[in-house]
Amino acid sequence: MRQLPNPRNLLSQQTRTSGIKAAFHQIETPAYIFDLKLLKDNLQFLEQLAKKLDVKIIFAQKSYSLYSTYPLISKYLSGSTASGLYEAQLAREEFPGEIHVYSPAYKTDDVIKLLEFVDYIYFNSFSQWQKYLVLINQAKKSGRKIQVGLRVNPEYSETEHDIYNPAGRYSRLGITAQAFEQGVAEYGLEGIDGLHFHALCEENANSLANVLTNFENKFSPYIEKMTWLNFGGGHLFTRADYQVELLAEILHDFRLKYPNQTIYFEPGEAISLDTGFLVCEVLDIVQNEVNIAIVDTSATCHMPDVLEMPYTPRVFLLDEKYSEEGYYIEAEAINDEALINKEFIKDNNVFRLGAPTCLAGDIIGNYKFPRPLQQQDRLVFCDMALYAHVKTNTFNGMPLPNLVTLQSAENYKVERQATYFDFKNRLGNMTLRQD
Ligand SMILES: Cc1ncc(COP(=O)(O)O)c(C=O)c1O
Repeated sequence: MRQLPNPRNLLSQQTRTSGIKAAFHQIETPAYIFDLKLLKDNLQFLEQLAKKLDVKIIFAQKSYSLYSTYPLISKYLSGSTASGLYEAQLAREEFPGEIHVYSPAYKTDDVIKLLEFVDYIYFNSFSQWQKYLVLINQAKKSGRKIQVGLRVNPEYSETEHDIYNPAGRYSRLGITAQAFEQGVAEYGLEGIDGLHFHALCEENANSLANVLTNFENKFSPYIEKMTWLNFGGGHLFTRADYQVELLAEILHDFRLKYPNQTIYFEPGEAISLDTGFLVCEVLDIVQNEVNIAIVDTSATCHMPDVLEMPYTPRVFLLDEKYSEEGYYIEAEAINDEALINKEFIKDNNVFRLGAPTCLAGDIIGNYKFPRPLQQQDRLVFCDMALYAHVKTNTFNGMPLPNLVTLQSAENYKVERQATYFDFKNRLGNMTLRQD
């Protein structure tokens, strides 16, 4: 049997917190910190996985768009995928490799621009494909070797949260089998090179197996006509428990039936899983039945998935007193029900972490620390290199966190310093106003 890479060996899985370094004491807060060593560790794993399984892995920029690291990421992956013109444009400028793009619906001006440089364009309906067919044919005539795909909906998903389920009831994402049949009857499939589905969210290979069965059951007559297939994102390849052997078996069985199609995966989270941090500072401590620490970060502005999912991130207190191997100690998460039981109310080490915004629900979670928190304590939230910095906003005029890369224990580089202009720029076109 081929030797498959094992996600359990990933540095980031063994020593998730190894990225918490002395530098965290100096960096101006709030800041997202991206550990380049941990990122490289994930990328090397993904490169080996793609090679062993003879698949192509491309990078879904929507989960992570720190483009100063794109040259590094692009060394290990075949290309990138974009959610629309802006991400595609960013890939064109910063990410060497194939450029794929998919949007549930495109504007004509955007398609005109995209057709100048993308390699793969995916449509979400036969009507969108047909609407832009003339433009596609013109681009091809002018020498552009563009591949065209359709996103289908396998109408099966194991994603528990409806908000993240692309194959849930009434989903607009992908063409259902029934609509596909009608589309083929009306327009045929000539000019369609590949099919794409995306139905997973933070899942393992067993979920892929079930989605794939549904995809085949619904679309098999069309699959064999394609030159490539894209199995979407949501595969947590780099999580320690990812079933790599099962994935190899699934692909092996699939290829017995469909040997000629190039297989793509387009994960986002798997690229930067457990490679980033958000460091913040305690601004004040207040009491209202429980201890509350107000920190200079916000769930709604800086970690929106904490509220949307919802989930409670791991948090570490930076304190050299507790430094066996470094500078930090993990706090224990406490759920709301446990918080209101008497024992925790009296516990001086338990704190509810809240933001300095006006939103009552802008709470990151409740935690038990090894000692009472004080003003200026630094807290580090883990696994913040995905779906956080790309979703930030400036609600309440909160400043955006700086973007900092960590080169080694002592060296860091501020890639981007947040300013007032980020806030103002999001609300209007400053240049035009000044003119
Ligand atoms: C079409 C598509 N591809 C890829 C991804 C990346 O998924 P993940 O970051 O969960 O791997 C997403 C996420 O929403 C998506 O919608």
